[in-house]
Amino acid sequence: MEIRRVGVVGCGLMGSGIAEVAAKSGFDVIVCEVDDEVVENGKSLIRKSMDRAVEKEKMTLTEQEVAWGHLHFTAEVSELENSDIVVEAIIENLDAKAELFQQLDRLCPDHTIFASNTSSLPVTDIAAATSRADQFIGLHFFNPVPVMKLVEVVRTIATSQETLDRALQFSRALNKVPITAKDNSGFVVNLLLVPYLLDAIRQLEHGVATVEDIDAAMTLGLGYPMGPFILCDFVGIDTLYQISEIMFDEYRDPRYAPPPLLKRIVTMGRFGQKSGKGFYDWSGEKPTALSV
Ligand code: CAA
Repeated sequence: MEIRRVGVVGCGLMGSGIAEVAAKSGFDVIVCEVDDEVVENGKSLIRKSMDRAVEKEKMTLTEQEVAWGHLHFTAEVSELENSDIVVEAIIENLDAKAELFQQLDRLCPDHTIFASNTSSLPVTDIAAATSRADQFIGLHFFNPVPVMKLVEVVRTIATSQETLDRALQFSRALNKVPITAKDNSGFVVNLLLVPYLLDAIRQLEHGVATVEDIDAAMTLGLGYPMGPFILCDFVGIDTLYQISEIMFDEYRDPRYAPPPLLKRIVTMGRFGQKSGKGFYDWSGEKPTALSV
């Protein structure tokens, strides 16, 4: 069955990007958040990103208006009942995701596909909470979603071929490039990215170099678009911490163990760009490194 109506649950950094891209691709999108205040915040994230796309000449004002017309916002999960696919992008917590999908399982028609944007939880663990594990898939997008072309399409041992095909088709319709990965925590990208970011923090703990110099090393020496500490702030330091805890729990491999400094920074509420402070202070024109 053709996908026309897309439900997106969670309108933070990732959910807002997924909703924006789906609306720009002509899908009717219902975006659900926990309450009206968070809905307003999500709306403004999408508005800002679309304004930036217009400014960068990636979109015309007319296209922006049309895309905006495809978006509908709600604080009621029940409004997702007519979705052909629901993409979940809420907090990285198994219980919260399982509870949401159980609710959706009761609500949505038989043909609805369920997709999680989880970056590190095994998709199988979430799918097992529903009665439609064959129609459950991982769709892992990358931040900033409107710019990054990749989607990791994650198939569990229960995902049907038809669901995989529909998810690949949907990803391409969003103008993304899908790759298929099996359901191992971290999939392809985070399996490589997380040890790299944690190693940069360990370098800092060992006093190898400063935050700015390690970042300069990776941008100027290897041509990476962002150094590891800017990237930590961009991804969210709390998010990185959660992901590494989940991956360490899964593999019991010290490569994924969060270094103590990461934990300290999270404890101090320095979550990165979104909270104004992380490894850098984001309050000025340019980010400036903070002491650690
Ligand atoms: N909508 C559409 N296009 C946009 C846009 C928007 N809102 N904002 C910017 N763009 C376009 C620009 O027009 C530009 O396109 P061209 O190259 O064709 O000109 C391109 O995006 C880059 O934009 P900018 O020039 O404004 O910005 P930049 O060159 O400083 O790049 C960046 C910004 C794309 C974020 C770049 O720094 C980058 O690629 N960083 C790495 C990001 C990354 O690694 N993301 C993955 C994080 S991991 C993750 O998300 C998953 C997880 O589970 C942890």
